[in-house]
Amino acid sequence: MRIILLGPPGAGKGTQAAGIVEKYNIPHISTGDIFRKNIKEGTDLGKKAKEYMDQGLLVPDELTVGLVTDRITQADCENGFMLDGFPRNVSQAEQLDTFLKENNIELSNVINIEVDKNILVSRAVGRRICKSCGATYHVEFNPPKIEGVCNVCQGELYQRADDNEETVSKRIQVYLDETKPLADYYAKVGILSNINGQQSIDEVFGDIVAALGSEK
Ligand code: AP5
Ligand code: ZN
Repeated sequence: MRIILLGPPGAGKGTQAAGIVEKYNIPHISTGDIFRKNIKEGTDLGKKAKEYMDQGLLVPDELTVGLVTDRITQADCENGFMLDGFPRNVSQAEQLDTFLKENNIELSNVINIEVDKNILVSRAVGRRICKSCGATYHVEFNPPKIEGVCNVCQGELYQRADDNEETVSKRIQVYLDETKPLADYYAKVGILSNINGQQSIDEVFGDIVAALGSEK
């Protein structure tokens, strides 16, 4: 199964990705996570990406596309993968298409999680993430059992640098301008499923699994 997860910031892509990769046993490739790891490690890529991420802007395609295509060619992606946060604009989608064609790889599904703009800001601003295992919580909608502590590994929870109201609003605008058109792009290919992201986390997951079917 080769899946793309689309949706605005705070739609629940990361939350749903955790369940999808476990159920279908495929690697989770999140460009946002890769950039954040590089920022933490202080690499050149991390330094460059941070300039854009802190402003809520897209990291330039030159720094992003090769990262994903290299990752897809690794052995653990042979039987499938899930892309989360990539592609992010039509140019990235076209470059991905070219790469997939050259390598005889076909996408199976594009899952588009839809959530109203006014809900997205509170979802992102209230998000907390585990420093150790990456599990995602929300102070109100999905709180951990003990405040500030991960349920899974007891790690410390933190807030992402770009999860403040101003940067989230910018990210939503960038999504509307650059990423939203990708839904039409993949609808034309016939592999798009729109999912109502304004249900409980479990209900959203159920709809995604129904859209993906039992295909491997
Ligand atoms: P990225 O890391 O991809 O972030 P994003 O797309 O902005 O998405 P988020 O991680 O904010 O949201 P999500 O949909 O994963 O929501 P989550 O599940 O956490 O990108 C960050 C930055 O990196 C970009 O701005 C850009 O600079 C750069 N970048 C990344 N990829 C790039 C690319 N391809 N090209 C260029 N630049 C790129 O959920 C949010 C909150 O809501 C959580 O607290 C969760 O608990 C809660 N929640 C989830 N589902 C529900 C529900 N059903 N009901 C109630 N609460 C819920
Ligand atoms: Zn944890």
